[in-house]
Amino acid sequence: MIRGSFINKRVDIGGLVLENPIMPASGTFGPEMESVIDFNLLGAIVPKSITLDPRSGNKTPRVCETVAGMINSIGIQSKGIQYYMDHYVPFYSKFTPPLISSLSADSIDEFAEIAHIVTQSDDVAAIELNISCPNLKGNGLAFGMDPEVTFKLIKEVRAVTHKPIIAKLSPNVTSIQEIALAAEEAGSNSLNVANTLLAMSIDVHTRKPKIGNVMGGLSGPAIKPVIIRMIYQVAQVVKIPIIGCGGVSSGEDAIEMMLAGASAVQVGTSSFIQPDAMLRILNEIDSYMNQHEMTDVRDLIGKIEIG
Ligand code: FUM
Repeated sequence: MIRGSFINKRVDIGGLVLENPIMPASGTFGPEMESVIDFNLLGAIVPKSITLDPRSGNKTPRVCETVAGMINSIGIQSKGIQYYMDHYVPFYSKFTPPLISSLSADSIDEFAEIAHIVTQSDDVAAIELNISCPNLKGNGLAFGMDPEVTFKLIKEVRAVTHKPIIAKLSPNVTSIQEIALAAEEAGSNSLNVANTLLAMSIDVHTRKPKIGNVMGGLSGPAIKPVIIRMIYQVAQVVKIPIIGCGGVSSGEDAIEMMLAGASAVQVGTSSFIQPDAMLRILNEIDSYMNQHEMTDVRDLIGKIEIG
């Protein structure tokens, strides 16, 4: 046992070095959590996706519980980029972890425009391109479901920013490897695997969908095995780092994602159940490292043993 020895939790997610691999999933974190957790202990700060203009979001109800998870269809409610630059960026820059700005848009040109705006701020460390929200178009269609559109979109954003780009991929595709390769080829520095799974739930008494927009994105422990499989598949074909996202609620879940190939891990739904879940997960990673006499989390990345 080497309990108490120094554990390196520093990881690199494509040119952006984090003090530890744990960060919030976009849309599950906000300034109000400051009273519950010390933001300085996180690997990075990732606010809700921001759009060029304000958006009121989808009709209610926007969330419902499912077995081992939840469905959301918020519809990227947003105060617009100007408010974000004037209020959120200064607020989050008070903390030491790098700020990753998550961007959403209705067109490729708009993605490039908003990326250009956030690039002007030295307080924005990286850009996460949310090309995979299932709640903006009918039947969950998203830019990130087509490799050619993914390539074009990232290429256009690449042309307007020097900041690291994280492409947030959709799990609602036939081959996530094909999309991952398109994103890498277009210049993405890392990949987020993945957004929510397109889902639906019906109240059998009212016979109405439980979500106002009918369909939404499933998150939480129910999707974790699907995401682990996708991280593993993506890690087989790309050279850039992967950020795992989907159903992590314990240190062992985070480690499972890293063994599958993730360099860092986002925590979302779990924070709705326990707002300081990310800090507990970090402590649980320490316990695992001590138990396995390990001193560097990077020794976990992609270290699944097959056969
Ligand atoms: O509906 C929403 O705002 C969800 C966004 C996302 O999953 O990217």
